Amino acid sequence: MNKTDGRRQIVLAEVAGFCFGVQRAVEMTEAARRSRTGTVTTLGALVHNEQVIARMEAQGIGRAGDLKAIQEGTVVLSAHGASPSVLAQAKAQGLDVVDVTCPFVTRVHRMAKQLHEQGYQVVLVGDPGHTEVKGVAGLIESLGGTVTVVATVEAVRSAPLGKKVGVVSQTTQRPEQFAAIVAEVCKTAPDVRAINTICNATEELQAAAARLARQVDIVIVVGGKQSANSRRLRQLCEEAGTPAYQIETAAEIDPAWLEGKEKIGLTAGASTPDWILEEVARHLNGGDLPAGWRLHHPDEKS
Ligand code: F3S
Repeated sequence: MNKTDGRRQIVLAEVAGFCFGVQRAVEMTEAARRSRTGTVTTLGALVHNEQVIARMEAQGIGRAGDLKAIQEGTVVLSAHGASPSVLAQAKAQGLDVVDVTCPFVTRVHRMAKQLHEQGYQVVLVGDPGHTEVKGVAGLIESLGGTVTVVATVEAVRSAPLGKKVGVVSQTTQRPEQFAAIVAEVCKTAPDVRAINTICNATEELQAAAARLARQVDIVIVVGGKQSANSRRLRQLCEEAGTPAYQIETAAEIDPAWLEGKEKIGLTAGASTPDWILEEVARHLNGGDLPAGWRLHHPDEKS
């Protein structure tokens, strides 16, 4: 806990900010830029954070929404993974590929493939349309199978399920949701195999945010507007009964939020780099980092 003056304290979440996979993706992309000649372009936004993307652009790293828009050089695929067809298309276009898929996402691919090969109908708990979900579905389709994607218990009830069902999860799903869906599958399928592929980084960030919210008067969540996990942190803080605001930069802090508040909680989503979180901490603390500032990221060994 850090004091700004006699009245206000800044309390940092026990873990906050960049997860292992995003940090690794950013470092691999920057290393590719340093070591390669020609253009380096990310396919889609590497991280859901505009400030990080702007910093990459300043280093000469481009961004394209579609492979067809990349004529030459190196393409960096998403930390959320890609389907084999995307990889094949990139290679067919003659592009060098840097695959920054997070190892925890690779594990989802591996487990889904294993279940498919063992004859299970693969059910993926996840958000239809998310890059990670598309990557897993694309992999199983390339092996001649299909993936049944469900986001809710209700969706399971109307899904066409066989007798032998294997369930995996998008890495960022909530454990309670995964467990509820597996329980629902068990009501109709006699042979069920569930593999928990949720990444601990998400759980750790969320648990730390909820604990933080219970100790403070207000929580500031630093995270990109497009970052679903940052939004989720804000929601969890509000569910704990504490007002919470999501901001991208210190400039967005409305002084009215802080009026009459003594303990200010600070956390950040998994796509927020340390330098932005530190900037916000300095702003709240009148210029310097709060005394004893020590930032811990979600567990790298999750
Ligand atoms: Fe990987 Fe988990 Fe981050 S899956 S990208 S370490 S949230």
